[in-house]
Amino acid sequence: MRVDDLDRASIDHVLTTTRAVRRRLDLDRPVPLDVVRECLEIALQAPNGFNFQRWRWLVITDPHTRAAVAEIYRRVELPAVEALASQVPADDTDTQKVAASSRYLGDHLEQVPLHVIPCHDGGVQEDRELFTHLGYDTDLDNMAAASTYGEIWPAAWSFMLALRSRGLGSSLTMIHLGAEPEVARLLGIPAGISQAGLIPVAYFHGDDFRPGPRHPLDEVAFHDRWGQPLTRQAASTTA
Ligand SMILES: Cc1cc2nc3c(=O)[nH]c(=O)nc-3n(C[C@H](O)[C@H](O)[C@H](O)COP(=O)(O)O)c2cc1C
Repeated sequence: MRVDDLDRASIDHVLTTTRAVRRRLDLDRPVPLDVVRECLEIALQAPNGFNFQRWRWLVITDPHTRAAVAEIYRRVELPAVEALASQVPADDTDTQKVAASSRYLGDHLEQVPLHVIPCHDGGVQEDRELFTHLGYDTDLDNMAAASTYGEIWPAAWSFMLALRSRGLGSSLTMIHLGAEPEVARLLGIPAGISQAGLIPVAYFHGDDFRPGPRHPLDEVAFHDRWGQPLTRQAASTTA
């Protein structure tokens, strides 16, 4: 398809309105596995290191398994969400809303019809060893973490965008990693496979979403040197 034939408005709309969907998840409508397969096929086109494709995906629909995952998720999540809610000023309504909505998701997780656990064949430790083997001798913590999660999240985000365009909502979560070994045992995830998070998936109520609250671009993007503004003119010159 040529660039001029792309429906850019729709693409941009999906890119800017794919929200963390929690309260609007339709907990009663089943999610067909074929749709999830289709979205995962799309996700497999995401960038990944050396094209090693070390992503792995575990799709969970069994209600007993979902309930067991949800029980662990809640146990790990609740103290963190409560701490967040108590530490954030009451007038920081955006963060308070995220905390309340996250808690809602935890409270209803077993009812969400489908869970996806994106995994990485390896992990941060393995990537640290790989980079050491390749000759790097600096502090590799950040490099290894960037490599490991960079292998997974672009694909997971593609998956979430593909879901969104088909009327399904999802949310990127990772809090259950506080009990990763327990979830690995429950799901039979072998040693050497790292979990990256948990994506609850369901159809959503309502028709559309709006862009979320974000800091202005000018506060977070710089030009040539940290702190220098990325002016409109500079942005359009390089486009
Ligand atoms: C690394 C990461 C971890 C996250 N972990 C959780 C989580 O454990 N639980 C949850 O409900 N949402 C989680 N989220 C979703 C964020 O809360 C959400 O993306 C953010 O509030 C922005 O929401 P919006 O995109 O709908 O505007 C996570 C997002 C990221 C990127």
